[in-house]
Amino acid sequence: MTQTIYVLNGPNLNMLGVREPEKYGHSTLADVEKLCRDTAQRFGLAVEFRQSNIEGELVTWIQEARIKKAAGIVINPAAYTHTSVAILDALALSELPVIEIHITNVHQRESFRHHSYVSKIAKAVLAGFGIDGYALAITGLARMIGAKEK
Ligand code: DQA
Repeated sequence: MTQTIYVLNGPNLNMLGVREPEKYGHSTLADVEKLCRDTAQRFGLAVEFRQSNIEGELVTWIQEARIKKAAGIVINPAAYTHTSVAILDALALSELPVIEIHITNVHQRESFRHHSYVSKIAKAVLAGFGIDGYALAITGLARMIGAKEK
């Protein structure tokens, strides 16, 4: 049976490509989705790729990942990284391996971006690789769950 990983994106990531390109680059969220699908395919994994500007919707999707017996979650919670106990709690109850990814190196930025609730539960954290971080996160998760490269 094909295993599925959830790739979840938080607020404002739908604006990639036009949002502060000097920080976030020129690629769009559609480019990120393609990169994720191509990377996951190398390991025979399917991808549920989602973005929401609404905290509760992200919580519901994390719960769905558990119910649907997903193999793991790659999440860029965006600004909710720094604020959301609800997303942390949902990830904790999912009992799935979670990889946290940020396009920018949040530790080089404003001090309010230095704290992450999600890092409390994440198996690994990537920050500062640009959108390549998504491919690295999927590769790391695939190895973690024992998916074999084709
Ligand atoms: C981000 C970093 C967050 O601090 C910010 O709020 C984002 C994007 C990143 O990918 O670098 O929206 O998660």
